[in-house]
Amino acid sequence: MQTAVRARITGTGMFVPPDVVTNKDLEKLMDTSDEWIQQRSGIKERRYAKVGLGPSDLAVEASKRALEAAGKKVSDVDMIIFATLSPDYYFPGSAVFLQDHLGCGTIPALDVRNQCSGFLYGLDIARAYVQAGIHKCVLMVGAEVHSSGINLTTEGRDVAVLFGDGAGAVIVEPSTDDRGIYALELHAEGKHRDLLKIEYPSMKQKPYIMKHNIDDASIYPKMDGKNVFKHAVTRMPEVVASVLEQVQKTPNDIDFFLFHQANLRINEAVMKGLGQPMEKCHNNIERYGNCSAASVPMCLDEAVRMGKIKGGDFVCMAGFGAGFTWGGVVMKW
Ligand code: UT7
Repeated sequence: MQTAVRARITGTGMFVPPDVVTNKDLEKLMDTSDEWIQQRSGIKERRYAKVGLGPSDLAVEASKRALEAAGKKVSDVDMIIFATLSPDYYFPGSAVFLQDHLGCGTIPALDVRNQCSGFLYGLDIARAYVQAGIHKCVLMVGAEVHSSGINLTTEGRDVAVLFGDGAGAVIVEPSTDDRGIYALELHAEGKHRDLLKIEYPSMKQKPYIMKHNIDDASIYPKMDGKNVFKHAVTRMPEVVASVLEQVQKTPNDIDFFLFHQANLRINEAVMKGLGQPMEKCHNNIERYGNCSAASVPMCLDEAVRMGKIKGGDFVCMAGFGAGFTWGGVVMKW
């Protein structure tokens, strides 16, 4: 019996815009404090893109770095998958922007809308195409420009202080050895869709954007933070346990963990629950805040380039976000 080919991440890249926005900077815009933000979330600063730049612009740089790391050329890419909750346009999606920016001919370009789990959902799609033998070199990107879609006033402070702009990219190819993705599991629980959302613009009203949506700030994200936190610290360890069971491993068998960067306290709770020391996990929320679909690939890229993840290591990644949606993956690096 022929065993299915395994998909492997062969290169990573990330990019953040140069403009640093510190907690002190936010104190000038709203009633908040550096102390509150650091204590509650672990964030010290984040990056904001200049007006005129969309997630696809940040994704170009991250993609070029991932291609270089994988030893691939733009002409080798045979599919683009782009995860974002902050697209360049309402439509078409950001994947076609990136395809054009990179000069990728007419290869398929697919958008994924799964918020902070977008990277894991996209990675699963890339894996499926590679395993099926349909594509041999998939560029999978998570990129966000949150800074233009958050309410930078006291009214929106609970969400606004958390988010930043950035992009992370990976190249997914067929594995030629025993490295690659061993298990990947996704979940969603749509009954919680209203606990973290941007409701407007909405096709449920005519016209789909109204002046009062801007006046009453309903174009901005709304979050029931405590409830989201509670679900995140339950679902992430649950999905980690499940993917580990699939590959018959325990947390101690995993060399390195990477989680979505929503809140350092969430990741500390998850590592504690798994009985693992924080040294076995890389976080960058302190410097970049929550970059939604970009957070996991940005962390992966940093951990790889810093030498925290080495060839042959078993790596476990997990994320949780709006929807609710969540997922976990185990791979041999
Ligand atoms: O990436 C997608 C998934 N997202 C998440 O997983 C986020 C999950 N949630 C969280 O990380 C946390 O709930 C937050 C960091 C968002 C908030 O932390 P918290 O400990 O749950 O605080 P809270 O929302 O209960 O707010 C506590 C207090 C409130 O004041 P009162 O009612 O106690 O007087 C808030 O009004 O802090 C106030 N507050 C702020 N104060 C200063 C809320 N936001 C701010 C702020 N600065 N930015």
